[in-house]
Amino acid sequence: MAEIGSIGFIGAGKMGSALISGVLRAGMVKPAEVFFAETDEGALRRCRKKHGIEAVSTGSLAERCRVVVLCVKPPVVLPVIRQLAGALGPGKLVVSVAAGITTGAIEAELAPGVAVVRAMPNIAATVAASATAVAAGATAGREDLELAARLLSSVGLVVELPEALLDAATGLAGSGPAYVFLFTEALISGALKVGLPYHEARALAVQTLKGAAAMLEADPESHPAILRDAVTTPGGTTIAALHELEQKGFRDAVISAVEAAAERSRELGGAGKK
Ligand SMILES: NC(=O)c1ccc[n+]([C@@H]2O[C@H](COP(=O)([O-])OP(=O)(O)OC[C@H]3O[C@@H](n4cnc5c(N)ncnc54)[C@H](OP(=O)(O)O)[C@@H]3O)[C@@H](O)[C@H]2O)c1
Repeated sequence: MAEIGSIGFIGAGKMGSALISGVLRAGMVKPAEVFFAETDEGALRRCRKKHGIEAVSTGSLAERCRVVVLCVKPPVVLPVIRQLAGALGPGKLVVSVAAGITTGAIEAELAPGVAVVRAMPNIAATVAASATAVAAGATAGREDLELAARLLSSVGLVVELPEALLDAATGLAGSGPAYVFLFTEALISGALKVGLPYHEARALAVQTLKGAAAMLEADPESHPAILRDAVTTPGGTTIAALHELEQKGFRDAVISAVEAAAERSRELGGAGKK
């Protein structure tokens, strides 16, 4: 298995900081081999204090590190890559977690032979429970993809996909936690409406989500519809609620939400090329 070696994170905001925590916690690299570059003074101070690692300039990071992880916002990715292209030669691996930016767009700014892997984690990386999709660019080999997957596995589950499906994965898992937070808010509001106090409602809502997820995880072969059917008693409370959800277009709304986020991810990729 390929060694990670020295690794540098450009951008130490929410995602960069989560990934730094992940690789250090997993013992994948020694703190002395981890570097970061950050333009925001506050984020720089927080990262240095939390992880005890060295902040360097982006240029120095690109020269020192075998693996460079781009954790800046999508519009910043290509300008940063253009700045660093001279320091990134063959043998280096660039991993981008930016929504929408394709490996092709990054490769076009780099010398031939630099491996690029695109990843789409989600915010649950901050509690090591991300659902992450990874895809190899044209020059990345099996070892590069495995190394990137290992790095991302320090913050949760990793699934390999062809790059053509990464916008779809963004629509499901990249943006997905926000849909679940909205659903949870709605559950709590419903509970308040029928008289439960907030703290009890929140605790019951969160445990209901965890319990349903645990059942789905316990039997990966089981379609969610089968589990739902098993708790839908004729003439009972659940069918009354499910009827309301179907009538109000819950299923349609969720399908359209995933589709809209995937479409927006494709648009961001298009904007990144300019
Ligand atoms: N957060 C998520 O849930 C999530 C999920 C999946 C993927 N992602 C991807 O992760 C990437 C980062 O997102 P984030 O939520 O972590 O953003 P963030 O919290 O804003 O972090 C990005 C950090 O990078 C800094 N930065 C900007 N330009 C820089 C440069 N040239 N060199 C070094 N640092 C620079 C920013 O500083 P300034 O404030 O000064 O600009 C900021 O502190 C995005 O591309 C996003 O698509 C995020």
